[in-house]
Formats: sequence, C-alpha cells, structure tokens
Amino acid sequence: MLLRCSLVPALLFFASVSKGATLRSRTLPHDFEPVQAAPADMMLTLVIGLQSTDREGLLAVLGEVSHPASPKYGQHLSKAAVARFVAPTSQGQAAVASWLASHNITPVATSPSGESWRIQVPVVAANALLNAEYTEFVHKPSNSTTVRTLSYALPEDVEDYVRFIYPTTQFHSPMRRRGPIFEVAASPKARRTEATSDVPPSCAHKITPSCLQALYNITASPATAAGNEIAVSAFGSEVANKTDLRLFLREERPDIWNATFGEEAIDAGKLVGVGTSEANLDTQYTVGIASRVPTRFVSVGWQNDDEIFGFMDIIDHFLQEDRPPPVLTTSYGFDETEWEGQHDAEVVRFLCDAYAQLGTRGTTVIFSSGDGGVAGGSFNPDQRCDSGSFVPGFPSTCPFVTSVGATEGINPERAAPYSSGGFSNIFPRPAWQDSAVRAYLGAVKADPAYGELDGRFNASGRAFPDVAVQGTDYAVYVAGKARLARGTSAAAPVFASMIGLLNDERLKEGKSTLGWVNPLFYYAAEEEGRHGGLRVFNDVSDGRNPGCGTRGFPAVKGWDAVTGLGTPDYERLRNLAMGY
Ligand SMILES: *[C@@H]1O[C@H](CO)[C@@H](O)[C@H](O)[C@H]1NC(C)=O
Ligand SMILES: *[C@@H]1O[C@H](CO)[C@@H](O)[C@H](O)[C@H]1NC(C)=O
Ligand SMILES: *[C@@H]1O[C@H](CO)[C@@H](O)[C@H](O)[C@H]1NC(C)=O
Ligand SMILES: *[C@@H]1O[C@H](CO)[C@@H](O)[C@H](O)[C@H]1NC(C)=O
Ligand SMILES: *[C@@H]1O[C@H](CO)[C@@H](O)[C@H](O)[C@H]1NC(C)=O
Repeated sequence: MLLRCSLVPALLFFASVSKGATLRSRTLPHDFEPVQAAPADMMLTLVIGLQSTDREGLLAVLGEVSHPASPKYGQHLSKAAVARFVAPTSQGQAAVASWLASHNITPVATSPSGESWRIQVPVVAANALLNAEYTEFVHKPSNSTTVRTLSYALPEDVEDYVRFIYPTTQFHSPMRRRGPIFEVAASPKARRTEATSDVPPSCAHKITPSCLQALYNITASPATAAGNEIAVSAFGSEVANKTDLRLFLREERPDIWNATFGEEAIDAGKLVGVGTSEANLDTQYTVGIASRVPTRFVSVGWQNDDEIFGFMDIIDHFLQEDRPPPVLTTSYGFDETEWEGQHDAEVVRFLCDAYAQLGTRGTTVIFSSGDGGVAGGSFNPDQRCDSGSFVPGFPSTCPFVTSVGATEGINPERAAPYSSGGFSNIFPRPAWQDSAVRAYLGAVKADPAYGELDGRFNASGRAFPDVAVQGTDYAVYVAGKARLARGTSAAAPVFASMIGLLNDERLKEGKSTLGWVNPLFYYAAEEEGRHGGLRVFNDVSDGRNPGCGTRGFPAVKGWDAVTGLGTPDYERLRNLAMGY
C-alpha cells in the first residue's frame, strides 16, 4: 500500500521534459490506484486531436442553418463544406506528421475531415514520443484496469496544433448506460386514475405506443418520404433482437406488424443473440413509434476497453457518409464531472464539436438526460456528489445535442424523480437558452429548497434537459417476455421518433430535415411568452429530481432543469416545424 502511494510523486518527479515544452500533468483521482508500469511492449492506440482550421466558423454556420429567423435556415452543409472548416491547417498537419515521422510513427487512421489521427504504438514508443510514463492503474470501485500517464509533454513546434492526446492524463470510471431499471410487471403500482378521455385508462400503469400516440397526438400513418432515417446507437454488448421486436409489434402495433430495422456493427459490436434490455427498448420505441421511418440499429463494441473510442467512431462513421442519418438517438452517457480537468475537458469538447458537425449536416442528435436525478450516473452510487456538487451528465451538457428527460403520470404529467438535469461545468450557457434559463434561476432562488441547492451547481453552464417524454412503466419485450422498463432511456427514442416523423412531412414538401433543433425550440418558447404565441410543448410544473442528499431541482412553469421545455405535442410541433 505504502509503496503504491509513493509511486505517484515518483512518476511526476521522473518525467523528463524536453526544452521549451510545457508539461501537461495532473494528480491522481482518489478512486484510482497505481499498480505497475505498463509493459513496454503493450500496444496503445492513441487519438491525436488536431486544432481545426476554423472551428468558430463552423459553429457560426451551425447557428445560421438552425435558427428559424435566419435566411439560411435548413441549408445544411455537404461533407466537403464541413471539412473546409474542420480540417487542420496544412502547417498543423505538416508539423504533427513530421514529429511523428521523426519517431518512425505513421498514423493508422484519421477522421473524415482529418481533425483526429490515430496511432498505434508500444508503450515504450509512446513514453518516448510524449515524455510520458504510461502506468497501469486500477479503478477501485469497479476493480477494472486502465493505462494512463500522470504527465506528458509535446515539443514546442507541435504544441499549438494539438488539442489533446487520448488516452494520456484522462481518468474516468467505466461508462454506465442509462437504465432501464426493470420492475415486476405483474403488480402495477397503485396510481391515481388520471387518464383523460383521449388516453386509455391502462396508460396509468403501462405505457405503450398507443398511449404515447394518444398523449402526444403522434400520427400512426406510415411514413413514406425517401431519404429519411433514424439511427439508434448501442454500446457494449447490447443486442437488439428482431424476434422480440416482432412480438412487440404484434401486440402493440399490429398495423405495422412487419416493420423492422437495418443493422450495422462498428468496432466489433454485437448483432446476434438474445435481446438485451436497452437495445430492445430503444429499437421497439423507434420502430414502434416512427411508423415505418427507416431505422438503423448501430451496435458499437468496446475498443481498447474504452467507450470514448466508440463514441468517436460512431460519429466518424456517420460523418463519412454522404447522407448521414437525419436523427441519431443514444441512451448512454457518462458523468461530466470526471472530465472537468484542464486537459481532460478537451476530449469532451472535441466530441461535442463532432455532434456540431452532424448538426451542420442536418442530423438531430438526441441523448437521454440520465437516470440519477441531480446525482448523475456514476459507477458507484456511494461516491456520487462526494464534492457536494451535483453531477451533470455528458453528452447532455453539450449544447449541440438535444437532451431528453422523463415524466410520469398522465393528467397532469409530473417530472419523474430520476430525470437528470442541471448545469454544465464545461460548456457555457448558449444564447438561445438564456432567457428560459434566467427565468428558471429566478424561480429556483424563490424555491423553499434553495438552501439545499445553492452552491451545488454552476448557474453559468449549459442547462439541460431540453425536453421530456414519459419514461416510466414502458411495455417492452426482452428475450421473448413482456416486461416493464423505465428511464430517460425510454424517453429519448420516443422523442427521436417524433423528429423522424416530422422529417417525413418536411421531406415530402421538399424541405430540409430539422437538424439541430434546440434554437428552434427555445425560439418558439420565447415567442410564446412574448406574443402569447402558440404553446408547442406541454409545460410540466410538478415534481423534482432529488439526489446528493437534496430534494433536487423543482419542475416549474416554463423551462426547468428536470423536464426542460416540457413534453412534446406532435400536432403543435408539426405546425412549428412546417413553418420554416
Ligand atoms: C480485481 O481483479 C483482479 C484481476 O484483474 C483479481 O485478481 C482480484 O482478485 C480482483 N479484486 C477484487 C477485490 O475483486
Ligand atoms: C409488410 O406487410 C405488408 C402487407 O401487410 C406488405 O405489403 C409489405 O410489403 C410488408 N413489408 C415488409 C417490409 O415486409
Ligand atoms: C433472438 O432471440 C431469440 C431468443 O429470444 C433467439 O432464439 C434468436 O436466435 C435471436 N435472434 C438472433 C438473430 O440472434
Ligand atoms: C462554471 O462553468 C463555466 C462554463 O460555463 C466554467 O468556465 C467554469 O469553470 C465553471 N466553474 C466551475 C467552478 O466549475
Ligand atoms: C392533443 O391531444 C390532446 C388530448 O390528448 C388535446 O387536448 C389537444 O388539443 C391536442 N392538440 C392538438 C393540437 O390537436
């Protein structure tokens, strides 16, 4: 024990730094412990993130093509147009290439626009290249091993061109998917009988596609537009099983009983086997709600025992397509707090920029907000909020994704207590949500529980979620059996399906796909307040998301950090979406 502890300062002490280079270093997070130096011949795959030629330019274009008041609304970019902003400068490419060449290293892959390179090198070569000391560390709560260095340095002449190198000093616990948590289906909880005349009474204890169609006025007419698609991603060894889908559709959507999904594997993702809960839930509530919008299930395997590679690979995979899917829904994520370090945050900023690239191409990127309330979804719940601060979830804190929280109950809908929401510590609050969030901050100050919340969140950060959808007691088939599932995991695919159906209607009228929807949604909410305009979302103003020993944020009238702008109404969303 003592020996291991003494390894930490020793590593820092022995890291030699070449002249002129800046040492990038960090202290070891408390839930990791060094084991031994990484074996010299162990192969490492490293991502080198390069500075883009004009990152700000790309984000400015994204704003223009996504803001409904802009003359460029809907004019999404081609792959080549995106590359002109995102590719590194020729000086940058040359500097990094010649640095690698001087160590006899040739990149093995690059992203479609060339802003990230991969190299494969043994530990001994990585240590020499980066003035690093790659070491095996154990993540104590999960007993899993990870190879990292506590410091590294780049030569002065490449430093300005490199955003980050991964993995180096980034420590994070293994990714946790967001639910679903299974409940026993046999004994529905006693709830208020609260169904309205339009919503079947059974929806009070079991949510099915019919319930969601009735509640949110979602069309059941089959989609027909060419060029439409919804991509559903899964990570790890999740399997979406078509036998389970067929059982589900026969029971819940007999009118589209033979609808199905296409499938694709990245990084040796799994496509065959008994269906698993998350992948089945996500495919059953896209195929089952999006009424024949073509659906593509993408299974991403672990690469290098590390989910970050998969998160990057799936986006690169879509970005290299001439027509990326107009909707991508993902019910996985991780705690932003683990990436707040100075050099670590650049990895999540880079991923967030990749979602921005998809937005400029016309894709709506949707994530579930997380199931731990204000406590996020760390590997070990006992260690949550150990700094006293709330734990925001990434990618939901990226402004370029649409984050979906959860509700439960029918009339009224209330915030589901597990619905994660809050404020980023990495991404500042974007202008398009400024007025909604400022109004909310005022309401929070007046909240009876404000004393519990004060000081635990960063009021200047990007606030999430953006919207919410029912999340509790979803009927789903897993391994041939009917089950009930819950979580924001269920809410995200339903919302994605609604965007897919709206895209069907837009494409049939020769309009663009919706792409990045946040500016449109918040603009509509602002207009509604200003001119008494048409309400697009059903406001949810009941419930909270407790965690970290607090009552969590309250749902209030208007935007809130539990249910966002509220739950969608398809008819009213269509009126909004067809107007631009
Ligand atoms: C942790 O994993 C190692 C193998 O990687 C094993 O030898 C050890 O017993 C495990 N420890 C615990 C506490 O599970
Ligand atoms: C589904 O069944 C209908 C008839 O009920 C048929 O017209 C259609 O071609 C089938 N679609 C697929 C994808 O098999
Ligand atoms: C789907 O799951 C069933 C068991 O529920 C299994 O028999 C079948 O082989 C699976 N399908 C595929 C394609 O793996
Ligand atoms: C609060 O968020 C901003 C970004 O919006 C960030 O610059 C700042 O460092 C954060 N503060 C803390 C204490 O995390
Ligand atoms: C949507 O459905 C609800 C009932 O479920 C109804 O009260 C509402 O008027 C509908 N909205 C529109 C725009 O039709």
